[in-house]
Amino acid sequence: MNAAAAVLCGLGTWLPPQAVTNDDLARELDTSDDWIRSRTGIGTRFVAAPTVATSDLAVEAGRRALKSAGRDAVDGVVLATTTPDHPCPATAPLVAARLGLGTVAAFDVGAVCTGFLYALATGAGLIAAGTVGSVLVIGADTYSRILDPADRSTRAIFGDGAGAVVLRSGGATEPGALGTAVLGSDGTGSELITVRSGGSREPLHTFGTSGTSGADTGTGGPADPYFRMAGKAVFRSAVERMADAALTAARRAGWTTDDIDRLVAHQANLRILHAVADRMRLPRHRCPVHLDQVGNTAAASIPLALAHAVATGTLAPGHRTVLTAFGGGLTWGACTLRWPALTPA
Ligand code: UT7
Repeated sequence: MNAAAAVLCGLGTWLPPQAVTNDDLARELDTSDDWIRSRTGIGTRFVAAPTVATSDLAVEAGRRALKSAGRDAVDGVVLATTTPDHPCPATAPLVAARLGLGTVAAFDVGAVCTGFLYALATGAGLIAAGTVGSVLVIGADTYSRILDPADRSTRAIFGDGAGAVVLRSGGATEPGALGTAVLGSDGTGSELITVRSGGSREPLHTFGTSGTSGADTGTGGPADPYFRMAGKAVFRSAVERMADAALTAARRAGWTTDDIDRLVAHQANLRILHAVADRMRLPRHRCPVHLDQVGNTAAASIPLALAHAVATGTLAPGHRTVLTAFGGGLTWGACTLRWPALTPA
């Protein structure tokens, strides 16, 4: 018996209401609208209120994805995030409960900015194995909670948000059916994107009750609970890995580069998007841009970019679409689908 294909049949998104412009950042940090726009393409990002956690964003996006799919139930929830509500338990079961989904399978996936594609591939695998008949796949992150308030290079880039899709069991030739995912990792580059302290290697209690006391434990200096990124090195890897994964996924689908109507890439940096398109010899206009309005929303960036592309008419039913992402780990991934007729919510 052939394994069932996973068919994307619903899309929902949510952004917290508070917008932070480049000029807002420039009032706090040594930066400027001109620098941020010219080096990243970003104009605005959204930041969750102090009382709002990742699960709150995920519930909003999940509810909208279910509405878009015309469903009030699914058999599982896979949630990609780097910023869970708590280190324990996972955030997905809470989200499933708050969405009224009952006692379904629910767990988190951690692959940083590639998280949504890892979660998508996991959801598709659960459907192919017959474990579930449908699954809600969510990418949600609240990076504002892990950014160093004094770090202009990360604060200029990241924003909060959530996006979700519904996958259902179906046929491999249906619109929305996912092709075989391409996933990869290279842990030798794990130090390029980190939140160093707060895990089992450097538990925060080691450093005293404040967690950021600056105490030196002899294990590498003061605690650092913040997100750190070696921007330049990450930039180069992101371009190579996203382009190569996208080309591999397209080849597996039997598509040439010319066949790719839309490349919806993780919205890391406009220069990265252009460099990925150039490396693939794909016209840049086939690569939708959303980061100018929301920044880099980590695990949420691909579903947010998909919804924006549909809303602006850039992505239409039938488009041969490749999704690709890169993030900490290092991790990367890509997958293909023919865009289905659906209304994002
Ligand atoms: O989502 C996961 C994957 N993430 C990515 O793919 C992000 C990849 N990296 C990038 O997008 C870019 O590397 C950044 C946007 C993070 C940085 O841009 P860059 O062109 O690589 O700049 P840089 O890191 O080489 O920094 C150049 C200068 C530095 O000053 P000095 O040392 O030359 O004096 C930075 O301190 O730009 C400075 N700088 C800033 N200046 C004004 C860094 N951030 C800012 C800022 N405003 N916001």
